[in-house]
Amino acid sequence: MTLQEKVGQLNFPVGDLFMTGPTMETTQSDKFDDQIREGKITGIFNIYGASYTHRLQKIAKEESRLGIPLLMGADVIHGLKTIFPIPLAEAASWDLALIEKTARIAAIESTAVGINFNFAPMCDIGLDARWGRVAEGAGEDTYLTGMISAARVRGFQGEKLSDADTLAACVKHMAAYGAPEGGRDYNSVDMSERRLRETYLPAYQKAIDAGAATVMTSFNDLNGVPCTGNSFLLKKILREEWGFKGMVVSDWASISEMAVHGTAKDHSDAAKQAILAGTDMDMMADAYINFLPGLVESGEVPLEILDEAVYNVLKLKYDLGLFDNAYLYSNEVTEQTKVFSAEHLAISREMAEKSIVLLKNENQILPLKQSSQKIALIGPLANNRPDMNGTWSFFADANAPVTMLEGLQNLSKNEVLFAEGCALYESTEDKFEEAITVASQADVVILALGESAVMNGEAASRTDIGLPDNQLELAKRIHALGKPIIVLLSCGRPMAIPWLAQNANAILVTWALGTEAGNAIANVVYGNVNPSAKLPITFPRNVGQVPIHYQMKNTGRPYLGLNNEPASERIYVSKYRDSPNSPQFPFGFGLSYTRFKYSGLEASADRITNDERLKISVTITNMGEREGEEIVQCYIRDVVASVTQPLLKLRKFAKIKLKAKAHQVVTFEIGRDDLLLVNNDMQWVAEAGEFKVFVGPNTLDLQSLNFEYQIN
Ligand code: NOJ
Repeated sequence: MTLQEKVGQLNFPVGDLFMTGPTMETTQSDKFDDQIREGKITGIFNIYGASYTHRLQKIAKEESRLGIPLLMGADVIHGLKTIFPIPLAEAASWDLALIEKTARIAAIESTAVGINFNFAPMCDIGLDARWGRVAEGAGEDTYLTGMISAARVRGFQGEKLSDADTLAACVKHMAAYGAPEGGRDYNSVDMSERRLRETYLPAYQKAIDAGAATVMTSFNDLNGVPCTGNSFLLKKILREEWGFKGMVVSDWASISEMAVHGTAKDHSDAAKQAILAGTDMDMMADAYINFLPGLVESGEVPLEILDEAVYNVLKLKYDLGLFDNAYLYSNEVTEQTKVFSAEHLAISREMAEKSIVLLKNENQILPLKQSSQKIALIGPLANNRPDMNGTWSFFADANAPVTMLEGLQNLSKNEVLFAEGCALYESTEDKFEEAITVASQADVVILALGESAVMNGEAASRTDIGLPDNQLELAKRIHALGKPIIVLLSCGRPMAIPWLAQNANAILVTWALGTEAGNAIANVVYGNVNPSAKLPITFPRNVGQVPIHYQMKNTGRPYLGLNNEPASERIYVSKYRDSPNSPQFPFGFGLSYTRFKYSGLEASADRITNDERLKISVTITNMGEREGEEIVQCYIRDVVASVTQPLLKLRKFAKIKLKAKAHQVVTFEIGRDDLLLVNNDMQWVAEAGEFKVFVGPNTLDLQSLNFEYQIN
């Protein structure tokens, strides 16, 4: 390969179908044919279509000197054409098998249209509800995010990368992109190495251990070093400690952005820093194609470093099976038969049903009777198609989703009246009157409120995570009628909804549920489906509590005193003057139409050694009149450790289904691996001493017992 051909393999421009970042003039699609012929690009991202991608692969194979096939990348974050719930919503199901299945379907649809490289899963931990991209992750918990990310990798990559319906997963964004200061997207991250290792890195690592073929760097700087030029992350941790053998791609122009960060003097300097730090491929910056040849010729970048990056790219193409068959992923037949198939839509509906979280249900107002009631469905999201798809759904048809109105009308014999009430965030009251008239005719009012698709996701951080003023005002006016109110809350982040929490009779978090949104919501509202999801992220009372999450530490002055007396009786404790410390709805919380009782918590021993395992068992009884699913959670506390520890760390969970009145014993096994912490030498260790194990339905309702851990 010539130097130019090598560098071409590292150059990855965007197609012109969807722009998912600032455009750069040099990479418009009319130049692709020639660029491919000349070996100047390794592939293209955010394009699709079996015949289009086939045509481009043909140019690469037949008209370029080396005939190297192309990578076709895309952000298929929660489905291609069949749209599943946004990742945060899927995480609320805690259903790893189903999440793996939706990723599998996303891969089947994507590969049919020529895509072989998916920029997912996002494994960033979301502790800050202001950050818009919490919508794309699995929430605030390291363990849950790791398990879900690994399931997604398995779903995308299947058994073998070279199968025609599997594509390369991309673990992103390395690293700590979810912790920007102030929750503002792309902002700087400064954190201790212990927090990085204990809270942020394990989720990426689990996805890599599941076999992810690629990793994407992140936009942010971490402790002063932009992540795209960060050899501590990309070499020491990723390659040396974790043994990653795959390919590392930059994020969108994040190489040239190093000059904007102010750690590179120009794009050439940025290219040099990035490749020396371990970034193999340049997405959208044109920095490698323009400057690497010169940098290698001048000896500033050793040839071996360039060769290593090229090897990683070619190996990926080889593993994908592209050298055997460049057209493997462009299949017009499967494009016609599998994409948006009835089978895929059925899974989308099931996933959506399992993602809906019931936060409040006063006097069992839900489920609603399916006949002889007049229902008023009101709100800007009630008859709204595009926003059901949620963030990152560029490939989807904006008119495909089933609306809430359609779902509710199709399912029951009830008369369903509708009024929009207000726009999503414009401050006019023009439509209030009509909505109030409609509501006053109904027995029950359902308010469809919350965020549109663009109010969360990339570049969509918010300083106010409450309902937009006009929506809240509408809710208050309708509430004044004195009718029972059920809220369907669309959102891609935890929202601060104290007024709704206090005044609505029932609240369902309906996130952005994808193509089948309306049908899934109707099934839950009318009780054909019993809600089972639990929050994968804490819902605060107000934005001032953010970041708020369940893995808080005790501090030296905790809120609860020694005898559990609340802080209101004491002044100098860690608390707010104007708000309780507790969240509105805690991590792990979600109700069901039935009730579950936890009893008989016991352990197989009161001490274990490093090669023994403790069995913790608990009996769960369905006390109600209908079948339901329960997510049983198990947490650990290291009572005395060499470094301060969170009061709770999720270590195991189980999702069980119980018929009315039935019970089941759930057993968790705890061993050394579950007791690890990062000590002052940045080593993962399990320290001998006293531990507590907790089991329960959510983080504010746990039973516990103590045990001792000994090292042999
Ligand atoms: C920027 C985003 O941060 C990243 O997640 C995405 O994959 C790329 N744009 C490509 O669209």
